[in-house]
Amino acid sequence: MAKTTAKTAPAATKAPKQASEEKSAVSVQPIMNQQFDAPAPLQKYGTVSQRLPIGLDADTRQKSVEMLNQLLADTCSIRDMYKKHHWQVVGPTFYQLHLLFDKHYEEQDALIDMIAERIQILGGVALAMAADIAETTIIPRPPRDREEAPVQVSRLLEAHQIILKNCHDYAKKADDAGDDGTNDLVVSNVMRTNELQVWFVSEHVVDTPLARAE
Ligand SMILES: [Fe+2]
Repeated sequence: MAKTTAKTAPAATKAPKQASEEKSAVSVQPIMNQQFDAPAPLQKYGTVSQRLPIGLDADTRQKSVEMLNQLLADTCSIRDMYKKHHWQVVGPTFYQLHLLFDKHYEEQDALIDMIAERIQILGGVALAMAADIAETTIIPRPPRDREEAPVQVSRLLEAHQIILKNCHDYAKKADDAGDDGTNDLVVSNVMRTNELQVWFVSEHVVDTPLARAE
């Protein structure tokens, strides 16, 4: 496209250009505070729309969304517990655990996105905010205090076990209802990741001799 400079432009084109500049200066002003008199939300939490044609009935979607929001809340909790422990870990295994905890944090964070997007695909509304996660999760809340590494690991193993027990239950229910996508997500992603992390974390609390075989 030919580029017209101010120097070569005909005089007749100058006035409309100024008018459009004025208009765009007005339209870029943000319209604030719309949340205070907003109409009804697009979709209420807890409801499931049938918008996407994915071959699953309303009842199946509703049940899967409820299970996945629980799994989402618990996965957010264990993710954040990993970051807490990544920051607060102390002791001779500091470096290993510092790195391992952050790796597991990243893996749990990836699971959260998969779970939340599955909820949206099913027509549900995914939980998102920390306060809502805190109200929903069944993973016991750790203290704000800094704890010894074996205590951190024990808390993580307990959280993994809670999630894994739910995974077995949810996978079977999703399978029975014909929701293969949810079954696959729960088994292939959430369950497999949590099982692997249990293995890596558990080895840090095995009471084994360091120098001499007993
Ligand atoms: Fe870090």
